[in-house]
Amino acid sequence: MSIQTLDQTQQQQQQLHSLSLIAAHSHITGLGLDPVTLQPKESSQGMVGQLKARRAMGVVYKMIKMGKIAGRCVLLAGPPSSGKTALARGLAQNLSSNDDDDKEQTGSSGSNTVPFTAIAGSEIFSLELSKTEALTQAFRKSIGIKIKEETELISGEVVEIQIDRSITGGQKQGKLTIKTTDMETIYELGNKMIDGLTKEKVVAGDVITIDKASGKITKLGRSFARSRDYDAMGADTKFVACPEGELQKRDTVVHTVSLHDIDVINSRTQGVLALFTGDTGEISSEVRDQINAKVAEWKEEGKAEIVPGVLFIDEVHMLDIECFSFINRALEDEFSPIVIMATNRGISQTRGTSYKSPHGLPLDLLDRSIIVTTTIYKEDEINTILKIRAQEEEVEINDAALALLTQIGSETSLRYASNLISVSNQIALKRKSNNNIIEVHDIKRAYLLFLDSKRSVEFVTQNESQYIDDNGKVEISSQKQNNATDLDAMDTTE
Ligand SMILES: Nc1ncnc2c1ncn2[C@@H]1O[C@H](COP(=O)(O)OP(=O)(O)OP(=O)(O)O)[C@@H](O)[C@H]1O
Ligand SMILES: [Mg+2]
Repeated sequence: MSIQTLDQTQQQQQQLHSLSLIAAHSHITGLGLDPVTLQPKESSQGMVGQLKARRAMGVVYKMIKMGKIAGRCVLLAGPPSSGKTALARGLAQNLSSNDDDDKEQTGSSGSNTVPFTAIAGSEIFSLELSKTEALTQAFRKSIGIKIKEETELISGEVVEIQIDRSITGGQKQGKLTIKTTDMETIYELGNKMIDGLTKEKVVAGDVITIDKASGKITKLGRSFARSRDYDAMGADTKFVACPEGELQKRDTVVHTVSLHDIDVINSRTQGVLALFTGDTGEISSEVRDQINAKVAEWKEEGKAEIVPGVLFIDEVHMLDIECFSFINRALEDEFSPIVIMATNRGISQTRGTSYKSPHGLPLDLLDRSIIVTTTIYKEDEINTILKIRAQEEEVEINDAALALLTQIGSETSLRYASNLISVSNQIALKRKSNNNIIEVHDIKRAYLLFLDSKRSVEFVTQNESQYIDDNGKVEISSQKQNNATDLDAMDTTE
C-alpha cells in the first residue's frame, strides 16, 4: 500500500511539474532598464546585451507611459533570433507592472495599465472577418478609455446589527449601527441589504464599506478594538483600524476598458457574452462612429480619458499592401495606438505587389516609422542567455558543456542552442549519473541526434533525389544502390 501511495504522489508531482510550462520567452520579465535613468543594464530581467535597441525601447516606453503620444510607428528590424519578439515582450511586461512612482503621478491605483495587444501578421487573414475588420479590432483593442466614476461610500465599524424576522417569512426589517472614530449613525435596513450582510457574514466588530449606489458590501477586516473579544479566530482574520472622520465619503473609481470592448457591448444584443466567446463578427461602422462621438463627448466633459496603448504586430511582412495602406490611414486617426512592428526580412517583395522594398514594407509606411535595429549576439552574450535559459528550465549544466553549447550557438543559431538544453537534459536524465548534470557528451549526443537548419539543408541537398521535387518527381526506391550490397550480403550467407 505504502508503495502505491508513494507512486501516486510522485505522479502528482510530475503532473504538477509538467503544468509549469516553460515557453520561449518565459525568462523575460522586462526590458531590464534602470528605473530612474532608463538606461539598459548589461543583464537584467532576463534581458542580455542588445543595448542600443533596448535603450531605444526605453525611450519608446517612456513615450507610451506619458500617454501623450499616439499614432507613432516603431519598426523592429533585425535578423532571426536577435530578440525582436523578446524586446516586445519585455516592453509589455514593463507596461503592465505598476511601479510606485507611476501611481503617484496619476493619483489613483490599479488604473495605470496601458493596453497592449500582440498579434502576428498572419492572424488577420481569416474567413470570418475581413482583413481590415480584423486590423480595426486590433487597433481598437489597443486604445484604453479610463472612465472615472464618482461613488459614495459608507465605511465604518459595525456596532450592532439588529434584524427582525417576521414569522411568516415576509418582509425583513432591521437596523445597522455603524461608527467611525468621530461619529455613529443608525441606518434602516431593507431586504436587499439584510441579504447582503448575511451573505458576507458581517457581525459586530467588523469594519465594512458599503457602496451607496450599488449596495455592494465589502468586509475590510475586524476592528482592533474587538480583537480581544473572541478567543477562537481563524488564521486569516485581518485586523484593521476603525475608520476616522465622516461615515460617508466620496470616492472616485477608475475603470479602464478598451474601445473594442465598448464596440462589442454595443454591437449586439448579446454583446457582453460575445466579449467572452470572442465571437464578435463584423462591427458596423455606424456603431463605431457613435461610440467615437460618445467617447469624445465624455472626454470633453472630463468623464473619460483616452490612453493610447500599444499594438504589436509580429512578422509584419506577412501583411499585404491593402493592410499597409490601412495602417497608414489608421495611424492618422484621432484614436490611434502606438504601433510596434517586427520583421526579419531584408529587401523583399511586399505581398500583393510585384516590387521589392526594404523589410518587405512599402516605402510610405517605412517613412512614417522610426526604425530600431537588432543585431546578432556576441559569444559572451549567447553564453549568458543560454545560462539564463538553463536556469529557467531548472536544468543543471557544467561549465565545459555550457562552453560547447555557446560555441554551437554562435556557429548555428541561438534558438537551436537553447532547444538543445532540454534535449540534452533528457539525455542526461536517461544516463542517470552524476546528479543529472548535463555534461559535454550529452550535448554532443543531442547535437548528433538533432540537426540544425544548416546541416539539414546539407543532408537534403546530398539526398536530393529521394525527396519530391517541384516537378513532383521522386526516386522512392533507392534499391539500385542498395541491391548491389544486399546481393553481396546474400552471396556471403550462401
Ligand atoms: N537579449 C536577449 N536576452 C535574453 N534572451 C533573449 C534575448 N534576445 C533573444 N532572446 C531569446 O532568444 C530566443 C529568440 O529570440 P526572439 O524570438 O525574440 O527572436 P526574433 O528576433 O523575434 O526572431 P524572429 O525574427 O525569427 O522572429 C527567444 O527565446 C528569446 O527569449
Ligand atoms: Mg519573433
